[in-house]
Amino acid sequence: MKTIIEPFRIKSVEPIRMTTRKERQAYIKEVHYNLFALDSDHVLIDLLTDSGTSAMSASQWAGIMRGDESYAGSPSYHRFEHTIKDLMPFKHIIPTHQGRAAERILFSLVSDDSKLIPSNTHFDTTRANVEATGAQAVDLVIAEGLDPESGHPFKGNIDLERLDQFLIDNKGHVPLVMITVTNNSGGGQPVSMKNIKGARKICDRHDIPLFLDACRFAENAYFIKLREAGYENASVKDIVREMFSYADGMTMSAKKDALVNIGGWLAMNDDAWALKARNILILTEGFPTYGGLAGRDLEAVALGLEEVIDEDYLQYRLASTQYLGDALQSIGIPLITPVGGHAVYVNAAKLLPHIPALSYPGQALAVALYEVGGIRSCEIGSIMFGRQPDGSEMPAKMELVRLAIPRRVYTQSHIDYVIECFEEVYQGKDELVGFEITKEPPALRHFTAHFAPLKPVIA
Ligand code: F0G
Repeated sequence: MKTIIEPFRIKSVEPIRMTTRKERQAYIKEVHYNLFALDSDHVLIDLLTDSGTSAMSASQWAGIMRGDESYAGSPSYHRFEHTIKDLMPFKHIIPTHQGRAAERILFSLVSDDSKLIPSNTHFDTTRANVEATGAQAVDLVIAEGLDPESGHPFKGNIDLERLDQFLIDNKGHVPLVMITVTNNSGGGQPVSMKNIKGARKICDRHDIPLFLDACRFAENAYFIKLREAGYENASVKDIVREMFSYADGMTMSAKKDALVNIGGWLAMNDDAWALKARNILILTEGFPTYGGLAGRDLEAVALGLEEVIDEDYLQYRLASTQYLGDALQSIGIPLITPVGGHAVYVNAAKLLPHIPALSYPGQALAVALYEVGGIRSCEIGSIMFGRQPDGSEMPAKMELVRLAIPRRVYTQSHIDYVIECFEEVYQGKDELVGFEITKEPPALRHFTAHFAPLKPVIA
């Protein structure tokens, strides 16, 4: 069969409120063209993020009722810990309310202003948490990972030669090496088993621990199964176990591949670090058997982890992202290829060459998608990264628009609708105009800045 169906039926639905283009033009103008400021009621298809937006299963909802809310020693914590250890056999599992809380605890333990933390590519909260300690976050992704059109099957790989040299050059200043699977900031691209294993060998040589930022570990594992020789017949569970067997610890946002709306954890083997981590946890998150979560959340995570490694689910998940990517390419929309696991990244600079980087082509495309079809996407370009610490502006490396696909939420007809909207935007692309920023906060401006079109967008 060519059609890969959603491997679930829908038991409970959430209505989408229909809007007209005229209404949407008014809504977006009202919020000064900032898509983060829109009410989600005014969005038809929300592709802003795949984080915390998953649909839970009937079994997870049943688990929510089973959640034991004891302050200490809850059986829900034991189920959470047991399920994680079955996949990721670390000695200490420390629950947190989401991924960045795990990052904050980890880096406040190991990092200070004399330190450097290398990664394939740090996600922005990871980078911010590293930098908050005074340390430097350094990206060492392979060259293909920065080339939007390279067909490399594992564009998320860390450059092992550069990593080795980096550890030689900065001896005594690198408390750990991080690898993000999949590489969200680099287009949702996977990291190969060979690469993780290679990084492990280098870390061993320099006696430095290796941590995985593992938000999308299951998608990464399925890419390994599909693309890496020797893993065709391995089960995803065994692939996941092998990936983590090379690591000394991990940070996790359960809002992605644990199929829940909130949650995360920090895990590690080192007893001394774990002791310190739990002490910080008690200060900022909660007691070690619930962290920042309710007992019911721990149950939902435990069940989500079992569901996310189901191969029917993963086949559907990667095929549905690929389906959107293939259709967009066939109508001429330039993308980062191969498409990633959780999102399709449109190369807005290439689609709208008449809009200069500092007139924000990504924003022009994102606003057009909203006006035409009520689709909410996210600019990842010069608005997000262009402002320099001294207040000046520099174009970002790429001008992208991310279409992140929530897990188990939209059906193929929703995606077909997105494709149809793109067809219309593509027809009118030469008339799209850039934006200027009329108001911005000193940091993280993309969340709250105000914009104005340089001329009316799509008359
Ligand atoms: N690491 C990666 C690779 C992420 O993608 C995210 C979140 C985090 C860490 C932080 O986790 O949100 O639970 O605190 N990414 C979301 C996104 C926000 O839209 O890509 P968190």
